[in-house]
Amino acid sequence: MAMQNPAARPTNPRFSSGPCAKIPTFDLANLSDAPLGRSHRAAVGKAKLKAAIEETRDILGIPADYKIGIVPASDTGAVEMALWSLLGARKATMCAWESFGAGWVTDVVKQLKIDAEVKTADYGEIVDMAAVDYDTDVVFTWNGTTSGVRMPNGDAIPADREGLTICDATSAAFAQDLPWDKLDVTTFSWQKVLGGEAAHGMLILSPRAVERLESYTPAWPLPKIFRLTKSGKLIDGIFEGATINTPSMLAVEDYLVALDWARSVGGLKGLIARADANARAIFDFCDANDWIADLAEDAATRSNTSVCLKFTDDRITDGAAFAKAVAKRLEAEGVALDVGAYRDAPAGLRIWCGGTVETADIEAMLPWLAWAYEETLAAQTEAA
Ligand SMILES: Cc1ncc(COP(=O)(O)O)c(C=O)c1O
Repeated sequence: MAMQNPAARPTNPRFSSGPCAKIPTFDLANLSDAPLGRSHRAAVGKAKLKAAIEETRDILGIPADYKIGIVPASDTGAVEMALWSLLGARKATMCAWESFGAGWVTDVVKQLKIDAEVKTADYGEIVDMAAVDYDTDVVFTWNGTTSGVRMPNGDAIPADREGLTICDATSAAFAQDLPWDKLDVTTFSWQKVLGGEAAHGMLILSPRAVERLESYTPAWPLPKIFRLTKSGKLIDGIFEGATINTPSMLAVEDYLVALDWARSVGGLKGLIARADANARAIFDFCDANDWIADLAEDAATRSNTSVCLKFTDDRITDGAAFAKAVAKRLEAEGVALDVGAYRDAPAGLRIWCGGTVETADIEAMLPWLAWAYEETLAAQTEAA
């Protein structure tokens, strides 16, 4: 017997983990102040880029002596610049607990061929970050977007480390507290938590990271797009809005508008509270239903942005097909778009809960998830 459809629908069914939902007040008309068709090196362009850097600093509470650069190729570009420019001076420790972290391992071990200890954990678990040697350079992802497992805090990272910490924080920045004193290199992209446009990445450097850049030259050649120094000195312009190559001023404007909105909801604190409330609605749903659970094993490591879910009903015969069918039903009804698990992750769903998502939309979507689960189970029984 077919289940009755839930009465309400989310106003915005966009729960993709990247590009993420635009800010709730988004309107193309809000971008009309973009200096389109002007040089990004003209005063107006430079001022916009500088504002993007300084607003980022202010909202995220990044220390005044940290450098913030807008770089090409989104978060991937920012991480690659850091890996290729900084690693090789000492041994590295590569920590990965999902596919993006695993990608950085491949780069460092197979491409750069750096002497590295590799520490991995299965999807749902996290590497024991207290057992890492921080006198090596440590590379890790703060929030594993494809497993929904995050660092609970930075307590495991010692203040007096000899190595650098290089942290891919793309699905954490603007949703989770980042302990800047424990992070030497931090990266994120605009398309994630603030729902900006893809294209540009942010590269944040501690004074120790700058010191490394100015005292160490890698043995391999660096393309122009990765070069952060000239004649042994940091290229300061990159961190003042003089980008390496041409940025999209439309994307810059969109990011500035998103930062403004972030401020209007209470800045970082407000954004964290919004993500927490969204994730909490899903955690409560999992607690109330014994057929679905968070992929993260330990509650302290459960992400409040990329919430990953697994179906736990042992009547399900083909987990991957089942999860795909549920996601397809939700999409067909227009109640949840792009919620299938990442291609390399265990079968299940992934529901983005960052601050641009409204809790009311999550709450309106969850009864549909229960509906889709029942319908898919019924279809499976019928097919058997
Ligand atoms: C943890 C993590 N790292 C890197 C990336 C790549 O980001 P981008 O496509 O913005 O370069 C993503 C994208 O989802 C991610 O989640």
